[in-house]
Amino acid sequence: MGKLTNRMALYAGALIGASVAGALFPQATLWAQAPTTFPAGDGQAKAQAACAACHPVAIVAGKRYDAQKWGAVVDQMIDKGAKVSDADYDIIVTYLAKTYGPAN
Ligand code: HEC
Repeated sequence: MGKLTNRMALYAGALIGASVAGALFPQATLWAQAPTTFPAGDGQAKAQAACAACHPVAIVAGKRYDAQKWGAVVDQMIDKGAKVSDADYDIIVTYLAKTYGPAN
């Protein structure tokens, strides 16, 4: 019994280690096929900070909206608690419309 408990502790340790590594180096998480960061572009860092806090980037990356619709989505997210300053609002909406617009 003692032996089994030790093995389980080791296994749990390995799992925790792997998830910490995944958090620090998301690109090293081989089994994650979905994007974990927004693609480069003006406003990328701001979108990453504001829009990757609560859900995976993939939830955003799967949409194709124009600027007006992205503005409505960002408004909704602010209602849910997303932190988007007035100064960043246009930058993020423009970035999203350019990166995930109807033409892409
Ligand atoms: C405070 C947490 C939070 C932050 C930050 C946040 N979201 Fe969300 N987002 C949610 C929740 C919760 C849902 C699921 C909402 C639902 O389905 O009712 C969601 C869902 C979505 C969806 C899917 C909606 C759908 O109809 O399928 C999109 C797109 C989205 N968010 C975009 C964004 C963008 C863009 C940002 C950055 C401005 C952002 N989110 C930041 C909480 C957040």
